[in-house]
Amino acid sequence: MDAKIAVLPGDGVGPEVTAEARKVLEAIAQARGHRFSFETALVGGAAIDEAGTALPEATLELCKASDAVLFGAVGGPKWDDPKARVRPEQGLLGLRKGLGLFANLRPVKLNPALVDASTIKADVLAGTDLLFVRELTGGIYFGQRGRDAGGKEAFDTMVYSEPEITRVVRFAFNLARGRRRKVTSVDKANVLECSRLWRETAMRIAAEYPDVTYENMLVDACAMHLIRRPSTFDVIVTENMFGDILTDEASMLTGSLGLLPSASLAEGNLGLYEPIHGSAPDIAGQGIANPLGTILSAALLLRHSLKLDQEAQAIEKAVDKALAEGYRTRDIEQPGTKVLGTQEMGDLIVRYITTA
Ligand code: IPM
Ligand code: MG
Repeated sequence: MDAKIAVLPGDGVGPEVTAEARKVLEAIAQARGHRFSFETALVGGAAIDEAGTALPEATLELCKASDAVLFGAVGGPKWDDPKARVRPEQGLLGLRKGLGLFANLRPVKLNPALVDASTIKADVLAGTDLLFVRELTGGIYFGQRGRDAGGKEAFDTMVYSEPEITRVVRFAFNLARGRRRKVTSVDKANVLECSRLWRETAMRIAAEYPDVTYENMLVDACAMHLIRRPSTFDVIVTENMFGDILTDEASMLTGSLGLLPSASLAEGNLGLYEPIHGSAPDIAGQGIANPLGTILSAALLLRHSLKLDQEAQAIEKAVDKALAEGYRTRDIEQPGTKVLGTQEMGDLIVRYITTA
């Protein structure tokens, strides 16, 4: 197939890791007879420096005209002043809103080769394979905010509409049907009105899926159960800010932030794919960043936007093989493993794909 992929490297290690993921996509295209074209655009701090805004119009237009977006990371100390009017994160938030990326998928699967990398005990982790579906274009992230009382009072507003809740919860149930058929909807319905609407809506949708086990859970309890019995979760669906917090917590189950991919999906096939990790300015430019989170995000890109599931699996298998054979980047180094640089790891994955 033909596909047009927008590449937004961003800041810090973003350019290094997206370069490796692109290389892997090119290898897959070559091996399986597809034609992918890539176009790069500015986002984040790099865009602020060049164009004075974190999300130039040309970048948004390119993304809208593409089949999928491969995204690196944004941010860094250079743009860190909390009082600044333009901030790198606005690039990401603007893309989410501008492209309608309402469903953020963050799979957390324990790689058997890396059980010992987690701070959680191996027997608690055994069997962990969960999928967060975070609502991404609503809630307190996008509500009215401001200052009153001469700047001495601040407010942020959480707003959710029933259609917004419906589409993301339904999305979660549909995904659960391809997995272990369980959905946990996370809210704070004992306190928040938005959460009460969320729960009512989720329960109504659950009734349409009698084949899927459904439960509600309060967000504080979920934070606890995630580290107490992570393997009992399958699909977890929640609103924007709860999802932000819980997915950082859940990422630590695997002990390898550098390995985790994510997908942010719009209605239709357009999606933005990025590693969970940030721009890691401390190691940027040294050629040691872990490209696997971005490479696995490229696999999600193939699966969700291009509907090339076999190709996605080929990448996932290649990554599993690299880890099983003891190859690591520095962030996940363990005794007796072989440490590779960013490009060497990318080359290894390409080699596994082309010789598979
Ligand atoms: C994430 C990040 C973003 C968020 C930031 C960078 C705005 O933490 O993708 O989880 O809060 O959504
Ligand atoms: Mg976050």
